[in-house]
Amino acid sequence: MDSIIIQGGRPLSGTVEVSGAKNAALPLLAAGILADGPMIYHRIPHLRDITTMMTLLANQGADVSMDDKGRVRVDTSTSHLPEAPYELVKTMRASALVLGPLLARFGHARVSLPGGCAIGARPMDMHLKGLEAMGAEIRVEQGYVVAKTKGKLQGARIVFGTVTVTGTENLMMAAALADGETILENAAREPEVVNLADSLRQMGADIKGDGSGCICIRGVDRLNGAEVSVIADRIEAATYLAAGLITGGEVTVKHVDPGMLDAFLARVAEAGASVETGESWVRCSASERLQGVNIRTSPHPGFPTDLQAQFMALMCIASGSSVISETIFENRFMHVQELRRMGANIVLNGNAAVVDGIETLSGAPVMATDLRASASLVLAGLAATGETTISRVYHIDRGYERIEEKLRALGASIERITPTPELLRSPSLATS
Ligand code: EPU
Repeated sequence: MDSIIIQGGRPLSGTVEVSGAKNAALPLLAAGILADGPMIYHRIPHLRDITTMMTLLANQGADVSMDDKGRVRVDTSTSHLPEAPYELVKTMRASALVLGPLLARFGHARVSLPGGCAIGARPMDMHLKGLEAMGAEIRVEQGYVVAKTKGKLQGARIVFGTVTVTGTENLMMAAALADGETILENAAREPEVVNLADSLRQMGADIKGDGSGCICIRGVDRLNGAEVSVIADRIEAATYLAAGLITGGEVTVKHVDPGMLDAFLARVAEAGASVETGESWVRCSASERLQGVNIRTSPHPGFPTDLQAQFMALMCIASGSSVISETIFENRFMHVQELRRMGANIVLNGNAAVVDGIETLSGAPVMATDLRASASLVLAGLAATGETTISRVYHIDRGYERIEEKLRALGASIERITPTPELLRSPSLATS
């Protein structure tokens, strides 16, 4: 397993080009199942989760390829197996995004239930109840959701008990080819949901209200292939801005709509950072140590849970204390123990972490436990004195494209170590 080694304490400065968003690209790829003709995708990031989704589509019989300009082409006209096997779903929960589209197109689907997850239980009940409300018959058999419909899915009014991002996306895709009108209430308003709605409209869908809590979809008979673009990864962008701030440098991120970062930028500005924005760029710097500020994660436009761990790293060396409340996932504090190993002063109390800022963190061997937790450890390592080794970095490869390269270009001392066969045979590593 690869590790990342960082020599901390260097201010990072410069400009980073933001990649396409993983969480937008995944539903867009799943939407290809609905298209009567090839889809062409721009700005698909090169990430492990994206490869998993492409493998999933190819497994179903789709023709998936990438051209020399990095555009991805997906033609699902040859797809014949409406399934998502456990082997793929267990490595990426977002595989469940194919359920709605498969059911809408084939009238039946068999998709593995994802099982446990490092950050919380993350059930799929609202996806399934929504599809049932649209006329699907659903049962769980040997770990798989087996769904079928007699004829087409039927439009329905669905009120989500909790805001769910992929639940909204799954049902929006299913509804695009259903009979009649579907209303999704208490729907997710994330920019990735809007990117999906825009792409479905380009394919011929009739969708209104995306970006608000109530989305109305009138089913159409067919959807065509289209050429669509993935939006910028707002979580990646904010992570690089945080890298500049935590090291006392100045980072600019480009090719990103600053409006998507409002909640994050408001909090760092409150902490004392200077924030400049242009049409498609953002720059952050701080002339003094940041002040502790409180955050509470919530669905968009609130503070994103996917930035909670990175913000906590910033607060570890802020002056004063901050309370970080996590309201979306019940177990998204796995980074706390690791940050403490670097000297951070954090007390956990239920869904809140109280961080008492210290002057400096000290480098240490730490372990990545999930994608965003890994990003917070990278940030902490960049700011810490001495060397930090982060193991299990496969988590970070799920969501950050070329992270070492991008950070090195900003002046970081960071390298990836891939164990040689000799190292793997050494007793200390073989038992880990
Ligand atoms: N939930 C239910 N039942 C459901 C669906 C969700 O109880 O049927 C609960 C979840 O357990 C959670 C809350 O609702 O407590 C919100 O979860 P949501 O469904 O919105 O999460 P998701 O769609 O599975 C997406 C992102 C996550 C991101 C969350 C929240 C993708 C592929 N994943 O997950 O991204 O944290 O929304 O914004 O879009 C990441 O990129 O690191 C990541 C985990």
